[in-house]
Amino acid sequence: MTKKSKSAQEYKIGEFARKAGVPVSTVNYYVKQGLIQPQATTPSGYRIFSEDGLRTVSTIRELQTEYLPLDEIKKQLRQKGRLRGRLPQMSLPFEEFELAPVTFRFPSTRYQGSKLKLVEWIWQNIKHLRFETALDAFGGTGCVAYMLKTKNKEVTYNDILRFNHYIGLALIENDKETLSSDDLRLLLTKHKGVKYPTFIYDAFHDIYFTDEENSWLDMVVRNIQFLKNRYKQALAYYALFQACIIKRPYNLFHRKNLYIRTAEVKRSFGNKITWDTPFAVHFVRFVEESNESVFSNGRKARALNLDVFDMDGQYDLVYIDTPYISSKGVGVDYLEFYHFLEGIVNYDKWSTLINHKVKHKSLEHEKSLWTDKNRIHDAFDRLFHKFRDSILVVSYRSDGVPTDSELMRLLRKYKRDVVELNRKDYKYVLSNNGSEELLFVAA
Ligand SMILES: C[S@@+](CC[C@H](N)C(=O)[O-])C[C@H]1O[C@@H](n2cnc3c(N)ncnc32)[C@H](O)[C@@H]1O
Repeated sequence: MTKKSKSAQEYKIGEFARKAGVPVSTVNYYVKQGLIQPQATTPSGYRIFSEDGLRTVSTIRELQTEYLPLDEIKKQLRQKGRLRGRLPQMSLPFEEFELAPVTFRFPSTRYQGSKLKLVEWIWQNIKHLRFETALDAFGGTGCVAYMLKTKNKEVTYNDILRFNHYIGLALIENDKETLSSDDLRLLLTKHKGVKYPTFIYDAFHDIYFTDEENSWLDMVVRNIQFLKNRYKQALAYYALFQACIIKRPYNLFHRKNLYIRTAEVKRSFGNKITWDTPFAVHFVRFVEESNESVFSNGRKARALNLDVFDMDGQYDLVYIDTPYISSKGVGVDYLEFYHFLEGIVNYDKWSTLINHKVKHKSLEHEKSLWTDKNRIHDAFDRLFHKFRDSILVVSYRSDGVPTDSELMRLLRKYKRDVVELNRKDYKYVLSNNGSEELLFVAA
């Protein structure tokens, strides 16, 4: 990737990240924060970074080990002469990396089924509707709830998984708490006199993370409990989840596959660097990102942790993004993919929840309605009936079960005015294995 023709000391982002020993996403984050700047852009739009930038990253990493907040890091970089004025925003003629096409400050995430890249499209298709209160009923990362919060709606986030609920608390319900450098110090140091548990170290040897990393997780999970404020706790959990996800091959916990990280095989991507970057470095970065996402829109936002069918209350608009069942009938089982994070938020009883029959030690659970192709039609019918008095906005995929025309028929049972939109008609997007992103708006 080096731009060797000009100078061996100029790098495109991939090589720059490799040289700096940080993930590409971290470089993007530093650029966004104005901590480093590309020195030029090639005619085809690639950003070029310099040797000087590498030294700046190394200084940032040193300062991060002292748990300094971003502002302080900026101040010190300035004092060291490493921070100049911001370059004017450079626009790229294509997407060099995956970024949400929105201006809001939602932290980066690698969650299955996240609609982060679609939130602006969703907004463009619902902004004409009259609504004040909105429910994101299957909230996941919370990016849709967050988008609605930035549009000054009174937002309720919901998700059945407890770890996701913490995400909703941190980014949706929370309207002012952030984690300070004192909080970071509390979280990331071993305190004298505290007997740290060793559950993850004992139970998950050789499954997802190294022994040293497992011990670090045991320590941080314990330290999170020392934070007094529940929103601060939620922010810390949030950063921990993101750090766990980014360090996992495939960003999932569906298999015992630590060996992928340690095997001596040739890799073409920066994955290994991301996996081997210490937990604390990822954690601090995600804390910073999520701190910046905290805001109030002046209205009461809420985060709930319920099965969607147990919810009460009336909402002007309900956004529905259920787990997806492929045309082959295979459903995305979120608890199976993210059981480790659900274990973290149930740390004290985790051992009693594990299914010890499987090597990857996921949690015992029944098959969900939303992943069962034989019950899914009925589930959608009940859901649309339940929220029949609200505007229904449904994210969907063109190759799912039920089919899009079946879903349309179900919506028409309760709503007269139903529109089906296809994302490829909005902006040119390559379809993924013939699967297209759909949005039903039923008013
Ligand atoms: C496709 S994801 C939602 C993604 C989300 N819109 C985003 O952009 O991040 C589906 C979510 O539904 C949640 N879920 C599954 N069954 C549920 C239920 N019965 N009630 C509420 N949430 C449920 C899962 O935990 C998962 O986070």
